[in-house]
Amino acid sequence: MIEASRAYELQGSFGAQNLRPITRAVAAPGPGELLLRMRALSLNYRDLMMIDGAYNPRQPLPLVPLSDGVGEVVAVGPGVEGIAVGERVMPCFAEGWLEGPPERAKLATTLGGPLPGVLCEHRLTPARAVVKAPAHLSDAEAATLPCAAVTAWHALITEGKIKPGDRVLLEGTGGVSIFALQIAVMAGAEVAITSSSSAKLERARALGASLTINYREEPDWGRRARAWAGGEGVDHVVEVGGAGTIEGALKAVRPGGTISVIGVLSGVRQPLLLTPILMQQIRLQGIIVGSRAIFADLCRAFGHQRIQPVVDRTFPFDQVQQALEHLRSGAHFGKVVIEVG
Ligand SMILES: NC(=O)c1ccc[n+]([C@@H]2O[C@H](COP(=O)([O-])OP(=O)(O)OC[C@H]3O[C@@H](n4cnc5c(N)ncnc54)[C@H](OP(=O)(O)O)[C@@H]3O)[C@@H](O)[C@H]2O)c1
Repeated sequence: MIEASRAYELQGSFGAQNLRPITRAVAAPGPGELLLRMRALSLNYRDLMMIDGAYNPRQPLPLVPLSDGVGEVVAVGPGVEGIAVGERVMPCFAEGWLEGPPERAKLATTLGGPLPGVLCEHRLTPARAVVKAPAHLSDAEAATLPCAAVTAWHALITEGKIKPGDRVLLEGTGGVSIFALQIAVMAGAEVAITSSSSAKLERARALGASLTINYREEPDWGRRARAWAGGEGVDHVVEVGGAGTIEGALKAVRPGGTISVIGVLSGVRQPLLLTPILMQQIRLQGIIVGSRAIFADLCRAFGHQRIQPVVDRTFPFDQVQQALEHLRSGAHFGKVVIEVG
C-alpha cells in the first residue's frame, strides 16, 4: 500500500484548466496485478481531445488522463508469473485487447478514458496487459510506444504488410508519422513525408525520408507524391490529417493501394467523392492502435533493430500543463514526454 501518491485528475468538467493535482492512496496489488511506479509518460493528440471533451463528451469525470507510459514494477500480486520487481513495463493502450481482431468489449478498455490513465506516480495494472520495455530504450523513449508506435506498426506492418521497395506517404511530423517513418525505413520502403515546416522536413530526411513536401507551400502535395511514385501513385498512405487531407491521400495513392485511416488532426467530417475509391479499388483501412500481441511484435523489432524513438522534449511532472500546451502548439517533432520525478 502506498499512502500518498501524486496524480492528476480531470475534475468537474472538461478543459485543461480542470486538470488538478491530487494525492491518493494506492492499494497493494491483488491477484494477477502489478504495482507500477511510473517513470515516464508520453502525450498523444488523443489526450488533448479527451481533456477538451472532444473525444468522448460522455466520458464520466473525474478521470486520470493519458494512455502511454513506462513504469517500474515495485510489487507483484499473487499468481503473477514471468514479471519481477525492478523490471520496466509499459501498460497496453487497451488493457482488454490482448490479441486477435478488435471487438467492442476490448475497445472499451482503453487507458486515459474510459479507464483511468497513467498521469500518476503509482498505478495498479493487470500483469497480462503489459509489455516489457526494450532494454536499449531510456524511460522517456519507452514511454512513447504504447499508442503512436503501435498504431504506425499496425497500419504499415500488421495490416499494411509493406514490402521492401514499397512507396509510403506520411502526413506531418507528429508522433504517429515519425514512428511510421522509422518503421517504413526499417522495412525497406521509400518514404515521402509532408510538413508545414521545412526545418522539420530536413530532420525527416535525416531519418531516411526520400521525398519531403512542405504542404503549406505546396497544397497539391497529393499529386506531387503521385508523380514521385512514377505517376502511378504510392502503395500506402498513413492518413493522420482527416478531413483536410483525405482528398490529398486519395490523389496520392495508386490503384489497389491502401490508405490507413488513422487521424483527425484537421477535422472529422468531409464530403468524399466515392468513385475514385471504387474505380481504383483503393483500400481504406481504419486503424485503432492495436492489441498487446501487436505491441509485443513492435518491441521485438525495435529491440532487434535498435530503433530509437524520437523524443522532442521532456517536461517534469509538475509541468503537465506546459507539456500539453507544447503538444497543442504543433511545434514538436516526434513525441512529447513527461518524466515522473
Ligand atoms: N486511430 C488510432 O488508433 C490513432 C492512434 C494515434 C493517433 N491517432 C490520431 O492520429 C492523429 C495524429 O496523432 P499524433 O499523436 O501523432 O499527433 P501529433 O503528434 O499531435 O501530430 C501533430 C502534427 O501533425 C501535423 N499536422 C497537423 N495538421 C496537419 C495537416 N492538416 N496536414 C498534415 N499534417 C498535419 C503537424 O506536423 P507538422 O508540424 O510537420 O506540419 C503537427 O505538428 C490524431 O488525429 C490522433 O488522434 C489515431
